[in-house]
Amino acid sequence: MAGTVNQSIMPLTAKVNENNHLEIGGLDTVELAEIYGTPLYVLDEEGIRTCCRQYKDAFSSYKNARILFASKAFMTKAMCCILKSEGIGLDVVSGGELYTALKSDFPMENIYFNGNNKSSEELELAIDSKIGRITVDNFLELALLDSVAKSKNVNIDILLRLTPGIECHTHEYIQTGHLDSKFGFDITQLDEAIELITQEYTNLNLKGLHAHIGSQIFETRIYHDLVGIILEQFAKIKDKFNITLEEMNLGGGLGVKYTDDDNPPSIYDIAKIILDSLNMNLEKYNLPAPKLIIEPGRSIICSSGVTLYTVGSSKQVPNGTKYVAVDGGMSDNPRPSMYQAKYNAVLANKVNDKITETVTIAGRFCESGDVLIKNIELPDIEPGDILCVFDTGAYNYSMSSNYNRVQKPAAILVHNGTSDVIIERESYENLVFLDRIPERLSC
Ligand code: LLP
Repeated sequence: MAGTVNQSIMPLTAKVNENNHLEIGGLDTVELAEIYGTPLYVLDEEGIRTCCRQYKDAFSSYKNARILFASKAFMTKAMCCILKSEGIGLDVVSGGELYTALKSDFPMENIYFNGNNKSSEELELAIDSKIGRITVDNFLELALLDSVAKSKNVNIDILLRLTPGIECHTHEYIQTGHLDSKFGFDITQLDEAIELITQEYTNLNLKGLHAHIGSQIFETRIYHDLVGIILEQFAKIKDKFNITLEEMNLGGGLGVKYTDDDNPPSIYDIAKIILDSLNMNLEKYNLPAPKLIIEPGRSIICSSGVTLYTVGSSKQVPNGTKYVAVDGGMSDNPRPSMYQAKYNAVLANKVNDKITETVTIAGRFCESGDVLIKNIELPDIEPGDILCVFDTGAYNYSMSSNYNRVQKPAAILVHNGTSDVIIERESYENLVFLDRIPERLSC
């Protein structure tokens, strides 16, 4: 493998076997499709673990670095078990993500809680679970958290999230660090927040600052700038309030390679940029080395996940596009319709067959925009073929829906020739499980 896990389109263990079938984790994906049905999310355990190790290794020269996985990218109990065994912590943004971690016996001290509108129930659950840190996003949350903490007579370690004012070149919907963002305190509001913490919100201990600039980022320079912006604030806070902050959380954001047009930096490139800037700015501002936290999501899981679909009907528009439909689409992968995201795929049962046609892969949902891949070159494509779409590990299952009352797919974990279900396929019964018929409708 060239580079780090986030730089390859296929899962780490992907191979073509003697039947010209795609193999992942030592298993034939065409057989997996037969056994488990399609659509099917397949996760390559070795790829996920290797990526966790690459992150840890890349930051190992800094004695106090911690990697958290942004669980919004892919959250299940099995994922929590893998992360726990690799010594990776968690960034959660909801009671549901926290609950999943609790149900997986995840070490609570290694969990950080982000989010711009946490409810008091969520904050209580976090406090009762003895979560590691709460990253406070705004003034209302400061007041709410302090009152919950006072009512429970506990002190809570917090970070403040700030909006660093950095614009990155990614899709507008997944930029978060620019000034006009719904997330975090503006830098000009930090003093007021700290005055409140020191004078009024006395059950909150300010440990550090957090910032996240966006997602699917390819520019390394902005991480250099981000470290400088945060450490400048550390220095100002030290001067003005005599508080030496101990933690700096840089969020996530490192991009992945979905298609050959994408050229993300490696995990080692990002680590070097961050650590160089950190050392330079610590010296510049004469600060002690803080704990460094990063919380990647996509770059840990994305390329280790693929989705298998069965090919069904097709339509040749006279003198136009040939649409080939698969048995999933925007409900298991909303990213193409939401962000015009591009994907790569192969026919898992004909991987190295000669390319003969250019087709557009359509989903099965009742929306014209439900197109997974436009104009992909493939071998002769027929009903029953298995299409494997790469890089669906991040933000696919976690953003899936039941649109058109279609069941969510199963997810399996493959490793060294074994496969295990980590998320069961939904049944029709699951779909109506929460429905209630008011008595007066008596149907
Ligand atoms: N930390 C914070 C505070 C975040 O908001 C995010 C992502 C991350 C870490 C992880 O970022 P990553 O390393 O995965 O880029 N649904 C969109 C992505 C939204 C990302 C939201 N925040 C997509 O499918 O592209």
